[in-house]
Amino acid sequence: MQNVETLKAKFNEIYGQAKLRVFRAPGRVNLIGEHTDYNGGFVLPAAIDREFLAVVAPTNGGEVKAFSMNTNTETKFLLSDIKHVPGDWGNYMRGVAQCLQNTGIYLRGFTAVISSTVPMASGLSSSAALEVLTETIFEKLDGFHIDPVDGIKLCQKAENEFIGVKCGIMDQFISKLGKKDYALFLDCRSLEYKHVPLSKDAKIVIVNTGVKRALAGSKYNERRAECEQAVSIFSKHKKGTLLRDYDLNDFQKWQNELPEVVRRRAKHVISENARVLDAIDALKAGNLELFGHMMYESHDSLKNDYEVSCLELDTIVNTARKTPGILGARMTGAGFGGCAVVLAEPRGVERFVQKMEDDYQKEFGRKPEIYVCTAEDGAGEIKT
Ligand code: GLA
Repeated sequence: MQNVETLKAKFNEIYGQAKLRVFRAPGRVNLIGEHTDYNGGFVLPAAIDREFLAVVAPTNGGEVKAFSMNTNTETKFLLSDIKHVPGDWGNYMRGVAQCLQNTGIYLRGFTAVISSTVPMASGLSSSAALEVLTETIFEKLDGFHIDPVDGIKLCQKAENEFIGVKCGIMDQFISKLGKKDYALFLDCRSLEYKHVPLSKDAKIVIVNTGVKRALAGSKYNERRAECEQAVSIFSKHKKGTLLRDYDLNDFQKWQNELPEVVRRRAKHVISENARVLDAIDALKAGNLELFGHMMYESHDSLKNDYEVSCLELDTIVNTARKTPGILGARMTGAGFGGCAVVLAEPRGVERFVQKMEDDYQKEFGRKPEIYVCTAEDGAGEIKT
């Protein structure tokens, strides 16, 4: 937990004395179900104990000012004149403010000091967390009520339209609706969701490759287009609008009609949806070995068929496979760098961390950052 008092002191120093309210929004790790959300499929993320924290005071003017303790920079904008400022971290806040105003909601300005322990551009959803934080601040300060799922959709819209990244809905969803000690099973088509209890016999360990991935500049949008191409071919045989509408039987029947690359993309998505359902059954049955096995299968599919892994991520997963006490591992998030998630028996954590540091050092000449995480609640106000 970051220190609220430090943020308050900074606020007083920059903006003067004010009665401050405190808000938080967590990053996330996805346990299984990768690149399925924008295909209307299934995901199983958890909110983590790496989060954005903000101390905030409402103002009467129509201006938002926020100081980041991480970058030591201030972002500011007038609510009546929102424009994208290239390279400014405040764009995530601008996007959310604009989307809220577009629904007819009247917003007042605020002043904030923000700090975050979610590593940036590392696949743990720092952008979604900042969007959800902003939406939560406006909602609480301005006293309007918005259905959580509508608020989530609005944050996704901000990312899609204002930032220009065609992400799915998983990251915003879990940052808002995470639950302590639970993962969240989400059907990304119906948006029905269920919290699934995580076992005390498994620890979530995240290994950060340190390879930065800029989602907008990556192959993310290209993958989406390839999935759409597969649907356009499958839909000649069976009605459907998203890869979610097709199962492994359908794939077997019509796979040869797809261009080779598109065939492998579709194979990943369709098999991954099936793996999520199997993984949840395994979790519910307390079969952590099987859950871990699904994670490894997911990784192989992302590596070989979806082609979004990288050498660093594969190295982490290989080390996990060789370490006693490790149940499973896979890349998490969009890929192309970022983080891997490892599921470990409590007794296996220490040994894995040691082995991981050694292997990574040998291979890449540096140690990776490793976070042993807990599953946490979604965004909200902290009463102090
Ligand atoms: C990013 C996106 C998500 C999802 C994952 C891949 O995190 O923001 O919507 O598509 O990649 O599963």
